[in-house]
Amino acid sequence: MEREKMGGPVEAPLEAILEEERVFPPPPQFREQANVRDPQVYQEAERDPEGFWERWARELTWFQPWEKVLEWDPPWAKWFVGGKTNLAYNCLDRHLMGPRRNKAAIIWEGEPGEVRILTYWELYRQVCRFANALKALGVRKGDRVTIYMPMVPEAAVAMLACARIGAVHSVVFAGFTADALRDRIQDAQAKVLVTAEGLWRRGNILPLKEYADQALEACPTVEKVVVFHRGCKEKEQVPMRRGRDIWWDEAIASAALQCPPEEMDAEDMLYILYTSGTTGKPKGVVHTTGGYMVGIYATTQWVFDIKEGDTYWCTADIGWVTGHSYVIYGPLLCGATTLMYEGAPDWPQRDRWWSIIERHGVTILYTAPTAIRTFMRWGEEWPGRHDLSSLRLLGTVGEPINPEAWVWYWRHIGGGRCPVVDTWWQTETGMIMITPLPGITHCKPGSATLPFPGVRAEVVDERGQPVPPGAGGYLVLTRPWPAMLRVLYGDPERYKVQYWSRFPGVYFTGDGARRDQDGYFWIVGRIDDVVNVSGHRIGTMEVESILVEHPAVAEAAVVGRSHEVKGQALWAFVTLRDDVVAGPSLEEELREHVSKRIGAFARPDRVIFTPELPKTRSGKIMRRLLRDIAEGRALGDVTTLQDPEVVRSLKEQYEHIEGG
Ligand code: PRX
Repeated sequence: MEREKMGGPVEAPLEAILEEERVFPPPPQFREQANVRDPQVYQEAERDPEGFWERWARELTWFQPWEKVLEWDPPWAKWFVGGKTNLAYNCLDRHLMGPRRNKAAIIWEGEPGEVRILTYWELYRQVCRFANALKALGVRKGDRVTIYMPMVPEAAVAMLACARIGAVHSVVFAGFTADALRDRIQDAQAKVLVTAEGLWRRGNILPLKEYADQALEACPTVEKVVVFHRGCKEKEQVPMRRGRDIWWDEAIASAALQCPPEEMDAEDMLYILYTSGTTGKPKGVVHTTGGYMVGIYATTQWVFDIKEGDTYWCTADIGWVTGHSYVIYGPLLCGATTLMYEGAPDWPQRDRWWSIIERHGVTILYTAPTAIRTFMRWGEEWPGRHDLSSLRLLGTVGEPINPEAWVWYWRHIGGGRCPVVDTWWQTETGMIMITPLPGITHCKPGSATLPFPGVRAEVVDERGQPVPPGAGGYLVLTRPWPAMLRVLYGDPERYKVQYWSRFPGVYFTGDGARRDQDGYFWIVGRIDDVVNVSGHRIGTMEVESILVEHPAVAEAAVVGRSHEVKGQALWAFVTLRDDVVAGPSLEEELREHVSKRIGAFARPDRVIFTPELPKTRSGKIMRRLLRDIAEGRALGDVTTLQDPEVVRSLKEQYEHIEGG
């Protein structure tokens, strides 16, 4: 019988656990074997943060040591100044000397069911060959390579090959369509695009190469396109532009097997990753080599408690930062086995993930609260059909997790046996920043708990003063950290203004938070015009600018609204041009328009037509009011509005939607 596991009996009703506000200490068996057990690590790191990071850096291979750990001239940081290294070397070559040579580096499962296992040696060989192929296509150190790929091992190979030769990769999530891809290629001025003819999703094909071809009509910098054959279509059915396009297997056919790693300065650019901001234009977050490597190495060791025998599965797509840091680089730096799955969780049935865990013996699972809430809705009979006893640690990331979902995950997936680490971080931070350490921290469901050792965070008010326990405020980071972004690509001014101006010398996260009496952080969510839909960050301005491109639309305002499964959903308020008539088919057309232009994940849940948007007398759209309307909240003072009547009619529409 299940008894007295972490935090008490597993049978206790969910409501009772939530009501008690139970704290979950590390289970004793876990604590005993944990990579970090001594709470002193916090004080030690606090006494000498640079020394703390330096100790981690020494565990990795450097071709030349650094002269100085940190040079901090706010907001400009340099870490491991003068050090020379190579990230791909540290992920691969470093492990080939010992028993990891023949260990599984990547276990991959395709949606149709194929399984491939690449050992460290095999992955190393493939990376070297593809690195040479890229060189043969003219790629040199510093050149940008855009990667627009399904979740296949070759996506990891392409990233590592770039890192090996010092090319800067820019991975674009395969859920984006042609226009979003085009904008990102143009901004990065990429020389080469790596893609596939398609990817599988619920048995259907997403035609990546078609989108790529559309995007490339307006991307003159791209000289070559490498196409990996995923097997969605026959090669003959895929149009290849002569002189520009080349199949992956042809590109590597004559490539040499040896490829010496480029000696990279610690501050040489490693990658660009685009993320949504508060304007219509996505931001190219720039990460560099040395500090990023050290930051994700340290956090993977301590947050995920990685051990030689683990099979670690982070379900993120490589198109997001979690896929960069904790599907590929973090686990490979640690010499771990990382699992990649290509497809949907409900294909062919709703137990696909649990079947994967059972068959591959996954020990660590890292996923998003949205996924957990979806599984809750599908019911525990799906995980119940499988043996999940290999699991020993669970993690979440990407959005606030509600305590109900946390406890459900702990109980039905972790069997009440596994610590749950709720990790807060961002594309910009590169690494996990606020998180439990699973062998030390007493967790409270819904709280990301405490900053990682050496990291300093605060919750402050408008003037930058720390707020008292329990009070809400802005989440800021008050000390540089090694994996921090260095700049926004091509836009140093925006970097300064966006992150470092509201409180000079302090990093502004864009999130709201509070701390409790124990100093634990509770993240509330974005406080800017960014919405977090199923863990995907979407700028409302981005969606608005796409809506107003539609010939029927005069004006649009997009807001986030809480959603039971997705965390937040997009609602668009739209005024139409004079001659256009509103109706359900137009609503569907506009939702589809956004989906086609950005990607299905950005499709608004609702489009609400209104003769006018609520504006202040000075003509500013009142988003707060629209958010209140979308949430069905009582509306405050509307007397500053240009036309208070607008609000009444919108409220009526809302009631109609909710009622019907
Ligand atoms: O609002 C926070 C939320 O996700 C944002 C960062 O999104 P992105 O750059 O796409 O990176 C996601 C994966 C690291 C944050 O500003 N967020 C992320 N993790 C958490 C979170 N909110 C609450 N709790 C978390 N654990």
